Amino acid sequence: MKLLVLLISLIHALIVWAGQTPTPIVLWHGMGDTCCAFYSLGGFKTFLEKQIPNVYVTSLRFGNNTIEDRESGFFMNPNDQIDYACKVLAADPNLQKGFNVIGFSQGCQFLRGMIQRCGHKLPPVKSFISLGGQHQGVYGLPHCMAVSHKTCDYIRELLNYAAYQSWLQSSLVQATYWHDPLNEEEYMRKSIYLADINNELAINETYRSNLKKLENFVMVKFDSDSMVQPRESEWFGFYTPGQGSQLQTLQQSRIYTEDRLGLQAMDRAGKLAFLSQPGDHLQFDETWFIDNIINKYLV
Ligand SMILES: *[C@@H]1O[C@H](CO)[C@@H](O)[C@H](O)[C@H]1NC(C)=O
Ligand SMILES: *[C@@H]1O[C@H](CO)[C@@H](O)[C@H](O)[C@H]1NC(C)=O
Repeated sequence: MKLLVLLISLIHALIVWAGQTPTPIVLWHGMGDTCCAFYSLGGFKTFLEKQIPNVYVTSLRFGNNTIEDRESGFFMNPNDQIDYACKVLAADPNLQKGFNVIGFSQGCQFLRGMIQRCGHKLPPVKSFISLGGQHQGVYGLPHCMAVSHKTCDYIRELLNYAAYQSWLQSSLVQATYWHDPLNEEEYMRKSIYLADINNELAINETYRSNLKKLENFVMVKFDSDSMVQPRESEWFGFYTPGQGSQLQTLQQSRIYTEDRLGLQAMDRAGKLAFLSQPGDHLQFDETWFIDNIINKYLV
């Protein structure tokens, strides 16, 4: 009799195990990209579906078609993008038991903003994979590698001049995460997106508690990245305040030492992972992705 009960419960466990569906995945694309083309995130979605049988993957689209989706990456205020994403994900019946998220480039800092602002209204977000995100913003332009390059310095100064004008903040997405280390005060007061989400001026406790609920926050940095300046932003590092060449790590920054976002607590709890790949922006090896991301965090 005992054996029979044991056998039945074993069969039951097996059935439950076999019927378990993998945790769904939400994707947020980067600047100049769109949600679903086969040569970009559409192809990546197919790749994930092949690697994780039965997984539900949804790639966020901002706008009613591909053109609007691409343009929104430049012109749709990130605060509105986040409101929109919160509504779409809260209404998705496939996500109700919780989900993982993968961000691409600027999509990473927007995903983080979404988690911080409406995480308490969404099913649990488990792992957040950040591929080449700019968590401390940027201070430079794509392909402006050398800090001493004269033209780059000139354009940088020019953008510095206009980036914090309210008309540019509200009309150009990239201005909302422009971070001038020579002018931290102005950045904190006038950046309508990144400074807020990073709890620079005031600490929003909702942001902190929502972020801390993540099981894993995995940041991938591309060591030969020619698009993101400084690359350390992909690991939440940045320039040391007051100048534009010396770098500091997340752990050396005020956001961390004052634990303004809960990242110090998350680090102590082993929830932060800092990974890197040798290539340029978003260039990663599929085998590496399967071994280090899918097998560790997504299945
Ligand atoms: C999508 O279409 C609706 C209805 O026409 C419109 O109100 C909305 O602004 C459009 N979305 C975007 C991002 O343009
Ligand atoms: C903190 O963030 C939440 C969620 O976005 C928002 O509702 C609230 O108004 C914010 N609190 C302050 C003091 O800004």
